[in-house]
Amino acid sequence: MARTALVTGGSRGIGAAISKALKAEGCNVAATFAGNEEAAAAFTAETGIATYKWNVADYDESKAGIEKVEADLGPIDIVVANAGITRDVPFHKMTPQQWHDVIDTNLTGVFNTVHPVWPGMRERKFGRVIVISSINGQKGQFAQVNYAATKAGDLGIVKSLAQEGARAGITANAICPGYIATEMVMAVPEKVRDSIIAQIPAGRLGEPEEIARCVTFLASDDAGFVNGSTISANGAQFFV
Ligand SMILES: NC(=O)c1ccc[n+]([C@@H]2O[C@H](COP(=O)([O-])OP(=O)(O)OC[C@H]3O[C@@H](n4cnc5c(N)ncnc54)[C@H](OP(=O)(O)O)[C@@H]3O)[C@@H](O)[C@H]2O)c1
Repeated sequence: MARTALVTGGSRGIGAAISKALKAEGCNVAATFAGNEEAAAAFTAETGIATYKWNVADYDESKAGIEKVEADLGPIDIVVANAGITRDVPFHKMTPQQWHDVIDTNLTGVFNTVHPVWPGMRERKFGRVIVISSINGQKGQFAQVNYAATKAGDLGIVKSLAQEGARAGITANAICPGYIATEMVMAVPEKVRDSIIAQIPAGRLGEPEEIARCVTFLASDDAGFVNGSTISANGAQFFV
């Protein structure tokens, strides 16, 4: 049976690789984006995957967007909360706005994405919730108090959802990528990027497809007993 999957931020970076991998597994996939229409249109033209625009930080927009996806593709079986942003700055310079932007998108955005699909998953006795956290939620990071707080929060979300959903056939798991070669990471100055790579025992950045393969495993029917867990995919940079 073809499953229906929703991937937030699914038109670029890690999310794009996830959307494509789920499609390759036979899923009907909806990918969302925030505002980069050009990238979304190019992604749909390349992959045939439908894209939808809404702001994950807004509950009403998310709920309405999810209703539209379900009207188009059917009930959502797999939800990948992947959309995320950074507003990096040392704590003493961090503004309340920079704090709230990241909390609203990365943390409240997960609530806004999962909460509307949760009742349907409970009724149908099947669901896969996958949240893209980060190595920096596990270990913290200079200039990322806001970001690390959200990514650590993701781990609390999936551990709690796992306990609530287990009897209803729903799993909730997180993936903590290390540094992956996406625009987010390629945007940092080359000198900084080189110093990041120097800290990765694998000696390289990860590829978005390496995260996507973790997602397809967690999303599969076969992964039903893997629940509340965190997969670290970081080239041996950090162990919990
Ligand atoms: N790259 C890494 O090394 C790395 C490492 C660990 C964790 N992560 C996490 O992995 C996830 C994906 O990262 P990435 O590097 O692939 O990011 P990216 O290339 O910057 O792509 C981010 C995606 O999220 C969407 N998005 C951002 N804010 C949104 C909002 N408010 N509402 C809806 N969509 C929104 C963007 O839409 P637009 O296209 O419209 O801008 C885009 O599709 C993030 O949660 C990030 O924290 C990344």
